[in-house]
Amino acid sequence: MPLTEAVTVDDIQLGTNSFWAQPLDERNRAFAALRERCPIGFHPELETLEGAPQGPGPGFWSLTRYEDVRTVSRQPQIFSSAGGITMNEEQPELRDFFGSMIVLDDPRHAKLRLLVQRAFTPKTVQAIEDTVRVRARQLVAEAAARGGGDFVQLFAAPLPLQIICDMLGVPAADERDVFEWTNIILGAGDPDFAGTYEVFANAAMSMFGYAQALGQDRLDRPREDLVSALMHADVDGERLTPAEFGSFFILLAVAGNETTRNAISWGMKLLTDHSDQRQLWMDDVEGRTPDAVEEIVRWASPVIHMRRTALEDTRVGDAEIAAGDKVVMWYWSANRDETVFPDGHRFDITRSNAKAQVGYGAGGPHFCLGANLARREITVMFQEIFRWLPDLQITSEPARLLSAFINGIKRMECAFAPTTVPEL
Ligand code: HEM
Repeated sequence: MPLTEAVTVDDIQLGTNSFWAQPLDERNRAFAALRERCPIGFHPELETLEGAPQGPGPGFWSLTRYEDVRTVSRQPQIFSSAGGITMNEEQPELRDFFGSMIVLDDPRHAKLRLLVQRAFTPKTVQAIEDTVRVRARQLVAEAAARGGGDFVQLFAAPLPLQIICDMLGVPAADERDVFEWTNIILGAGDPDFAGTYEVFANAAMSMFGYAQALGQDRLDRPREDLVSALMHADVDGERLTPAEFGSFFILLAVAGNETTRNAISWGMKLLTDHSDQRQLWMDDVEGRTPDAVEEIVRWASPVIHMRRTALEDTRVGDAEIAAGDKVVMWYWSANRDETVFPDGHRFDITRSNAKAQVGYGAGGPHFCLGANLARREITVMFQEIFRWLPDLQITSEPARLLSAFINGIKRMECAFAPTTVPEL
């Protein structure tokens, strides 16, 4: 449990890079202090991406407690997604690229979500699920003889990337481009990836152009794949346009990649640091997996926050929120709220309420569309590691992504006894 007495809540600056660059223990102490003494507070925005046309906005309300996050998430008629979903100001010139359903309100959002869901027939979902096992085994088999390396590159990053690329019909030769574009888009504030607005905008534009061409191709020449199903799905006579598909492609590729990757990476780090928890899980893989996977997502909170914008004057707790104000829901903090998750900083796969975690969202119309796929990917990756590389350990500290949005790990070394693993 962090000691919060030493923290002065007025000094906590959630709108700065230096806050997010701190060690995780410091971040935890700050959020614990906010939950205790300033659960809903207004924070200024102090920085923006270098070269961005739109400067820092006026600031945002910060929600740190579990119940407040749930309350806002479940009232989309008051707390809109249309103004943008991260705490920073939207850049209007990028709206086409990022204007997918995640930044739309109902009824338009519901229509698009239904359209997309129509394409996920039991047959396509089953095919994707089968692919997860084959791909995970392939990665473990390829890594097995090496005895170690960067865990992110060997295991965590390629699995979600390959699955999304398979789903979206991206040929293997183009996977690297998709990987780099998504890294830049979600790593925008980290000098390792984008660091400037120009690099960020170019990545978004390239990805959008690529996706539009893919969508148009399947519109003209349908095949037996998900993109063709998406382009030809119909709700009340409406179909996705190639531009709508372009922004949906960016959403799926970004949302499906960076999140699951970091859940797998943090999961492995946690299992290395907590050998008792690893033993418990490995002793009863079948029985423990569902809760262990939820506990990883709770602890890791791969998406640190989502933002809404108030459509009318309203109150949350004691806070008077005005129409137009930005409201940030800190999933990271809600997932550590001690009233719901006692000793919330502890990694404990035996928690009775792990499923109450809000890593995939706190309810409402935008709840993660890929949650089941993510659960499947995390499950299968750990099953394969437990089976074939049971002694795998993380041997370096994680190089963390500098971001207020994604709790990312860029690199992290691992070691295991080299072996030979059969492919499926
Ligand atoms: C551990 C992995 C993942 C985490 C932590 C995660 C988290 C989230 C969160 C927090 C939201 C917003 C929820 C809200 O605003 O209420 C979201 C939305 C979304 N996620 Fe995920 N996600 C994960 C994996 C995936 C995967 C694998 C896919 C795709 C295959 C995906 C696709 C989406 C989409 C399309 C939305 C937007 C839904 C909408 O606006 O209706 N996610 N996710």
